[in-house]
Amino acid sequence: MAREWWQDAVFYQIYPRSFADANGDGIGDLNGITAHLDYLNDGLTDGLTDGSGASLGIDAIWLSPINPSPLSDWGYDVSDYCDVHPDLGTLASFDRLVAEAHRRGIRIVLDLVPNHTSDQHAWFRESRSSRTNPKRDWYLWRRGRDGAAPNNWSSTFGGSAWEFDAASGEWYLHSFLREQPDLNFRNPEVVEAMHAVIRFWLDRGVDGFRVDVIAQMIKDAQFRDNPEVPKDRNLTQLERLAYEQRYSSDQPEVHDVIRGFRRVLDGYPARMMVGEVWPRDPRSLADYLRADELQQAFNFRFLFSPWQASAFRSRIEEVESLLGPDAWPTYTLSNHDFPRHITRYGASNAEARARMAAVLLLTMRGTPFIYYGEEIGMPNVGIPADRKRDPMGRDGCRTPMQWTAKRNGGFTTASEAWLPLGDCNAINVEKQLGDASSMLALYRRMIHLRKHSRALSEGTYRTEAHAPDDCLIFHREAPTQRVMVALNFSDAPRRIEVPRASILLSTDRIRRDDMLGGVSELSANEALILKIS
Ligand code: NOJ
Ligand code: CA
Repeated sequence: MAREWWQDAVFYQIYPRSFADANGDGIGDLNGITAHLDYLNDGLTDGLTDGSGASLGIDAIWLSPINPSPLSDWGYDVSDYCDVHPDLGTLASFDRLVAEAHRRGIRIVLDLVPNHTSDQHAWFRESRSSRTNPKRDWYLWRRGRDGAAPNNWSSTFGGSAWEFDAASGEWYLHSFLREQPDLNFRNPEVVEAMHAVIRFWLDRGVDGFRVDVIAQMIKDAQFRDNPEVPKDRNLTQLERLAYEQRYSSDQPEVHDVIRGFRRVLDGYPARMMVGEVWPRDPRSLADYLRADELQQAFNFRFLFSPWQASAFRSRIEEVESLLGPDAWPTYTLSNHDFPRHITRYGASNAEARARMAAVLLLTMRGTPFIYYGEEIGMPNVGIPADRKRDPMGRDGCRTPMQWTAKRNGGFTTASEAWLPLGDCNAINVEKQLGDASSMLALYRRMIHLRKHSRALSEGTYRTEAHAPDDCLIFHREAPTQRVMVALNFSDAPRRIEVPRASILLSTDRIRRDDMLGGVSELSANEALILKIS
């Protein structure tokens, strides 16, 4: 199979309200993103330098939702799919962002949230207005069961997934907040309406979509109760899902809906979809990646991995075996829903661990997704009670980008940003741009290395069996090149056996050698990339 652009791309997720504020109202916006595109990829640096230029070398941006929204779930509650939230800009500023990004070789992928709308969306207002409204069946309305909710389904955000509408005497389903009613994708008019949304953005030049909770779009036709979660066992989050969503997610018919989206995409050249898929059974992940469905699905395993070589190793091997050599995985360390990884990795040597994690992310067989700010080691920010915005407590990983040491980190000229910033004196882009040993410099070099290495970008993956317990060693091999990656998860040096090799990169800042061979030493928390001669 010919390689596709999204296999070779390094993605960068931007939370639009927090990247850069161009008009001084304290909220990040599209013009702010456009103004900082050169930071991500100036379209020039790559190929000219060894990664020491100013630009990161990003190939594609995923924008968290930009549509009008009452912001109950910060944009994941869309009230108009075909416009831009006024805080963020206009369709004209969006068009300019796309044009400027494309000029630099950066693709733009939008967040598509089809499972639910805002309760303020015109479709839902109509649907709610009466039982006989033509759009009534666009949402999932049911009669109650003995005066209570129609079944036992619960919302991912807690409580029942059903809300009673006193005016019409029926209940509507919301898999998330009550302000986010679920659409009915068994209704062909809804399917057609969502296809029109997809076409609207493709016609404007977007290169694809990140599709929110895609496996949840279809529910059991009979609305059967989900089984009780066994209380006597310690279940992982994924094991819980198998019970909690038996009939409310991951139903066989969802694949028809996805195929329909794909047919629309395939009407345009080189477009892609990456789905947020939480399958009830990990084995069904591959079912979403068939030739006529999603090109990519998120793989959240690193987000839940403890800091242990064996844990990362088993997660990588699980993905490799679930997907097989032909499907193309993805890897993610952080996103807008979970605490940032540098914070998850603890206090004292968190930075060294985050450096190792960066090397891991960017040497995997699979597309890496970087979350804005991780390239400068931005940690989660503690949010004072009176500044909290998100009902689910996720503000700490969504704080404004720290560009400079200036007031409000150079993010805004307003006196206050929409969310508080972290310590901008300690961590900011400007400072790291001038420092060859910074986290930013490491990301830049890693991205450059990945792009210019056949083995790293498209080679096979194989775990090295002979590694100390607290080290993860693996091989990436292409016909023309062999690379070995060695990561020492322990806080003490470890001896490893290596073939004769030259060092492509090490996170150990005092390592001076450029060749290794035989029994060699990995420093504490060192990540090392070797080119086998
Ligand atoms: C997943 C998104 O990543 C999350 O931020 C959102 O709250 C839910 N889907 C609901 O749309
Ligand atoms: Ca603004």
